[in-house]
Amino acid sequence: MTANELRRKYIDFFVSKNHVEISGQSLIPENDPTVLFTTAGMHPLVPYILGEPHPAGQRLVNYQKCIRTGDIEDVGDSSHLTFFEMLGNWSLGDYFKEDAIRMSYEFLTSSRWLGISPDKLSVTVFAGDDGVPRDDASAEVWRSLGIPDSRIYFLPRKDNWWGPAGATGPCGPDSEMFIDTGIPGTSASRPGVSDGKYMEVWNDVFMQYNKQADGSYLPLSRTCVDTGMGIERTIAILQGRTSVYETEVFQPIIARIEELTGARYGQDEQTDHSIRIISDHVRTASFILGDERGVAPSNVGQGYILRRLIRRAVRHGRKLGISREFLFDPAHVVIDMYQEPHPCLRENRDRVLEEMRAEELRFWTTLQKGEHEFEKLLPNLLRNPERVIPGRLAFRLYDTFGFPLEITEELASEHGLTVDREGFETAFRKHQETSKLDSNQTFKGGLADHSEMTTRLHTATHLLHKALRMVLGDHVAQKGSNITQERLRFDFAHHDKMSDEELQRVEAIVNEQIDRDLPVSFATMTLEEARDSGAIALFGNKYDEVVKVYSIGDFSKEVCGGPHVEHTTQLGRFRIVKEQSSSQGVRRIKAVLEN
Ligand code: ALA
Repeated sequence: MTANELRRKYIDFFVSKNHVEISGQSLIPENDPTVLFTTAGMHPLVPYILGEPHPAGQRLVNYQKCIRTGDIEDVGDSSHLTFFEMLGNWSLGDYFKEDAIRMSYEFLTSSRWLGISPDKLSVTVFAGDDGVPRDDASAEVWRSLGIPDSRIYFLPRKDNWWGPAGATGPCGPDSEMFIDTGIPGTSASRPGVSDGKYMEVWNDVFMQYNKQADGSYLPLSRTCVDTGMGIERTIAILQGRTSVYETEVFQPIIARIEELTGARYGQDEQTDHSIRIISDHVRTASFILGDERGVAPSNVGQGYILRRLIRRAVRHGRKLGISREFLFDPAHVVIDMYQEPHPCLRENRDRVLEEMRAEELRFWTTLQKGEHEFEKLLPNLLRNPERVIPGRLAFRLYDTFGFPLEITEELASEHGLTVDREGFETAFRKHQETSKLDSNQTFKGGLADHSEMTTRLHTATHLLHKALRMVLGDHVAQKGSNITQERLRFDFAHHDKMSDEELQRVEAIVNEQIDRDLPVSFATMTLEEARDSGAIALFGNKYDEVVKVYSIGDFSKEVCGGPHVEHTTQLGRFRIVKEQSSSQGVRRIKAVLEN
């Protein structure tokens, strides 16, 4: 059975069970800063699982493009993928465990549908723990369908609990279906042990709870079913393949890479590894570029993942002897293959190919420079007895030559070296604090207006900035500030929505500083001196430029043009009125001062 046939059969089956087919959604989640990409079919449906009525009804079915980048380093083996299609059926307060399991069983085993022998089917159900009892109800349904106890496994939360995609959201126990591949296992083989004997094909999740930011679980207003079947993996099993790369969704891509490189798939492990990485990454990159909310390569958020995928694929192309841009060529194959089920690829064909090619060209230049630098450093690095590349050196390659850390690590490991990742991250953070600010935005707004209110709000902005760092961490960097007579608005780097508790803590810290009646003063110094003294400094100025550093007592120190109040009690009460997303990875707070 091909991917196209499986996709169609799944939809037809559930439509015959009174489900309505709905479209899959963009890979870029809407209004959800908890994840970068859509990771499962349920993700765009979260509001409906939480209780909002869905316009298409209570029984839904679709296929959804998904990206999971957590395993990016594992791509290259026989099974990991960064992009996959997930088939899913949903009950929004309609059927629950019994009907969900019965329908799954029928679709898997009926000769009209997948026709898998029931003897090959094993299932898992939730074993229960302190919080939620054992799922005997699901086990009983499986038994009634003829699955013997020896093939029903009760497993703990780490195996049989699903969600939420972000830190909060709907979740519940699940029941997973596994097919015995027929390869000889060991005494340790069982569903959930990835030794190749049992392959998971489907997951029925019984959504019962809404996980809160404080870690507690509230019951959902109505129980829901969320299921997921990965197309690539399922067709590999149905076709008796040992790997997803041997199915018709990868073979044409691989054939194209073989033609371009002269390499042969299936002859040696190293070559296969590179060909798999290129095939996976070009597929994922094509889908990101061709998405309804298409993303361009960049250094942040989704754009950064995209850049990383393209660049890693290029590196492996290089390993196979390629010396010019090439990825757009197998990207054609990806678009041709998927344009029917995913028309946005057809609509955005030119953009996909142009952006892919442009990014490749940029990277070829970068690579040549970076590898040259690395080679110059190598003799010294090899003399280092610990065989560790210092973080600041890796950061210099990144910062000066755009050479990604992952690639420094790959080159390092080729020479038996490792990279001090922590050191790299420290250097990276330090750099971000000082240079990623948008100086144009920073001084936009009311700073030319020295009225009393804007001056007070300006001082409050410094207190807020510092308090946010205390509560959320030092990654909080100012991305923009805008002050009017009525309110301050502050944009800052942070991925997650702030919890009520975090907001309250920030408010309390600011008001505490106001109550302490701290003196506000400034000194002039060079930017370099300002940074050395620990002041939060802005981007865009030269090191030797003389700047003003405003201190608010012992609490905050920031490079800034002013003006400010003289004492913090002049501010009155500080109150946050809104916290929201501003753009990807940037949150926005609006706050007021009250007398
Ligand atoms: N949301 C479930 C999964 O991704 C079905 O496995």
